Amino acid sequence: VDKPVQVKLVLLGEAAVGKSSVVMRFVQNDFSENKEPTIGAAFLTQKCRLEDRVLRYEIWDTAGQERFHSLAPMYYRNAQAAVVVYDITKASSLEKAKSWVKELQRQANPNIVIALVGNKLDLVQSPAAAGAAPAGEEAEDEEADDATATPGEGGEQPLPEPEQEGESLRQVPKDEAAAYAQEAGLLFAETSAKTGEGVVEVFTEIAKKIPIE
Ligand code: GTP
Ligand code: MG
Repeated sequence: VDKPVQVKLVLLGEAAVGKSSVVMRFVQNDFSENKEPTIGAAFLTQKCRLEDRVLRYEIWDTAGQERFHSLAPMYYRNAQAAVVVYDITKASSLEKAKSWVKELQRQANPNIVIALVGNKLDLVQSPAAAGAAPAGEEAEDEEADDATATPGEGGEQPLPEPEQEGESLRQVPKDEAAAYAQEAGLLFAETSAKTGEGVVEVFTEIAKKIPIE
């Protein structure tokens, strides 16, 4: 049996987007509602099995709070992979993710495999919508209509559909983030550390792109 290949991976992203929670889901298949902010960084390892080989991820889960920003180069230096996380219910966190991607593309290993991950997918899925067809631009249009609707005109209020409850929390359209990721040459996925949706797949897709030595 071959010794697993070691792959150094770093997680970056704004505070509270769920970096530690994504790692906890991947490494322990567990979730905690009240996770404390990371101080400095945390180190964890996890194996990842592909059809033809096994990788061992050495994971640096960095702290998102701004006061720790200057430590980041220590963790992304020599990294072969990076997971840049944002929160799909917080638009500003995508802007922060983009600035991390820029920093990585300028300062990190030029062959680094980067995945952009939009986390907290469960927050935009009401129980009724979970598993149903994804609501994309339609839900957004309806949101825009709501914002410009004038009260007191006519009498009939359209009944909101149950899915809107969740989808209206979304601040980053999936298409928009996916288009940016493609343009910047990144892997892209939406995940929920809470339900586990999409989490293992992110690490598997990265593993497939790590060159065999
Ligand atoms: P820093 O360490 O400060 O950079 O934060 P972080 O990015 O590691 O975030 P963390 O994993 O600590 O999660 C922040 C909060 O969001 C916690 O209360 C988590 O329980 C919650 N959270 C994380 N992921 C998810 C998710 O997928 N869904 C929901 N609903 N909550 C989540
Ligand atoms: Mg953390």
